Amino acid sequence: TTVYLNGAFVPASEAKISPMDRGFLFGDGIYEVIPSYAGRFVGFGPHIERMHSGLAQLSIDPKLSLANWQSIADKLLADNRAELGDNIGVYFQVSRGTDSKRGHAFPANITPTVFGFAFAIPPEPVADKSKATTYNVVTGQDLRWQRCHIKSTSLLGNVLHYQQGYSQGAQEILLFDKDGNLTEGAAVNVFVVKDGVITTPPLSHKLLPGITRQILLAILAKHSNIKVEQRDISEAEVLAADEIWLTSSSKEIAPVLQVNDKAVGTGDVGDVWLAVQQLFSAHKF
Ligand code: PDD
Repeated sequence: TTVYLNGAFVPASEAKISPMDRGFLFGDGIYEVIPSYAGRFVGFGPHIERMHSGLAQLSIDPKLSLANWQSIADKLLADNRAELGDNIGVYFQVSRGTDSKRGHAFPANITPTVFGFAFAIPPEPVADKSKATTYNVVTGQDLRWQRCHIKSTSLLGNVLHYQQGYSQGAQEILLFDKDGNLTEGAAVNVFVVKDGVITTPPLSHKLLPGITRQILLAILAKHSNIKVEQRDISEAEVLAADEIWLTSSSKEIAPVLQVNDKAVGTGDVGDVWLAVQQLFSAHKF
C-alpha cells in the first residue's frame, strides 16, 4: 500500500507521524472520504470544497489547491488499484501539525500534517431491490457537540453513538436533538419518505452537510417531480415513515428496514428508494 504523507508517496509501513501531532493529541484536524468506482470519483469537487471550508473554520491552511488534491488522489488510485480493485475510497486528513508544547492555543508557524490513503469500499450500489444493502437501526438522543457541520477528526461522539447502536445489534443509529428532531446517524445523513414526499433535516450546526445528500438533492431537483422538503422531522414521523434511507459516500442511498425492531413501512425495500437510487446511479458522476 502506497500512502501520501506531507508531499511524498511512501509505503504505508514507512509513513511516520509524530505522537506530538495535534491530530493525535487533540483530534485537531479535518478529514474527508471520497468514493471512486473504476477510477472515477463521485463528487470530488464538493468533497474538497467541504474540506477547505472545515479547514478555514479551524484556521488551518495546507496550501493545496483542488488540482493538487486531484493529482494526489489520482496517484493514490493508480498506485493501489492493482491491490484494491475497482471500488476505492480516498481518505484525506489534515491536522494542525506537530508541536511538543501541547498548548491548547493554536501554535504560531507550524506546518499542517497532510495524509492520504486509499482503501477498499463496498461495490458500487445498484438500483435493484434484491441487491440493496439494507440496515436495521435504533434511535437515541444526539449527545455530540454543537459543531457537527465540521468534519472533524475528533470522532469520539460519533464512535460512541455508533457503538450504542452496534451493541444493540443495529448497523446505525438515528439521532434526535433535545427538541426531539432528527439530526443524522453516527456516520450517515437520513431521509424519510411519507406519502410520496421525501424529507430530510435542513443543514445546520447539528449535522454534517453530506456530499451524498447534496448530490441527491441536486439530482432530485433537476431530474424528478418528487416533492422534497428540508425541514425538522420528529421521532414520531420517523417511526411512521413509509421508507427511511441512510446516505453516505460509500452507501449512496441505503434503505432502512427496521427501527427499534419495528418494520419500516411494509418492511421491504421501497419503490421510492428504487426510483431515487436509479436516478442517483444515472446522474452521480
Ligand atoms: N461519513 N454524517 C456523518 C456524521 C458522517 O460521518 C458522514 C460520512 C455523513 C455522510 O456524508 P457524505 O455523504 O459526505 O459521505 C453524514 C464518512 C464516510 C466516514 O466518516 O466514514
